[in-house]
Amino acid sequence: MSINADSPTGPVQKRVRTRHFARAKAEGIKITGLTSYDTLTARIFDDAGIDFLLVGDSAGNTVLGYDSTLPVTVDELIPLTRAVALSVKRALVVADMPFGSYEEGPEHALRTAMRFMKETHAHAVKLEGGVRSAQQIRRIVEAGIPVMGHVGFTPQSEHGLGGHIIQGRGEEADRVLADAHAVQEAGAFAVVLEMIPADVAARITAELSIPTISVGAGPHADGQLLVWTDFAGMSTGRVPKFVKQYANLAATLLDAATAFKTDVDSGAYPGPEHSYDDTSSI
Ligand code: KIV
Repeated sequence: MSINADSPTGPVQKRVRTRHFARAKAEGIKITGLTSYDTLTARIFDDAGIDFLLVGDSAGNTVLGYDSTLPVTVDELIPLTRAVALSVKRALVVADMPFGSYEEGPEHALRTAMRFMKETHAHAVKLEGGVRSAQQIRRIVEAGIPVMGHVGFTPQSEHGLGGHIIQGRGEEADRVLADAHAVQEAGAFAVVLEMIPADVAARITAELSIPTISVGAGPHADGQLLVWTDFAGMSTGRVPKFVKQYANLAATLLDAATAFKTDVDSGAYPGPEHSYDDTSSI
């Protein structure tokens, strides 16, 4: 099922737009998203029909070698976002606004969002926070830039939240609910719900008119998003419970690199079939 097919039988090559997100929610069609930080994965995920690609500040952990998303800068994300946006034909590309690029106020947020839109070809931006970020979201939306919100566990606030902790349990559910409503009222076209109990996500999804996108928020959201290195088994270290691993690329690459080294050591690579003579072509 595709969120932007005019005909259920015809080929789908049109760009996914924010209006398709709204339609998906209305029609009960699930929305899919993956993170991507480069041209190769962007093309593959686009070909697979993934509806949106998030160039997340998770690049801090997956690409840039940091131990959190906090050090990531706009200048570091811009080339990654541009590579993804220039590589897709169909998926909607969302640029993640990193820590320190919007907190000072609505004008600060707008300047950052405009940089992403002008310099990367992305189609929308995402920023973290509900009530506390509502003014920023409203200002960016007023300027004609679609915004995806992000509430629940917000990794940029990991120190304020006391670590990687599930949000919205017990009495805290009302706070996450208020955050989700604030994001919707500010004009966001969708909201990411990260690491909250499934029943709280179900309540938010029922109450909001914009689609909810789960990252560790259970099955009742309108869509599902995963960090690609987690879902493909490329991440090293502990992977959260909510991640389903669809491949084990780290093991495959380790085997390939080990075999290459063994072949070079033994002289098995390169063989005559990998060497040029006077007549061979590239
Ligand atoms: O940066 C990211 O990948 C994210 C998702 C986990 C929501 O913000």
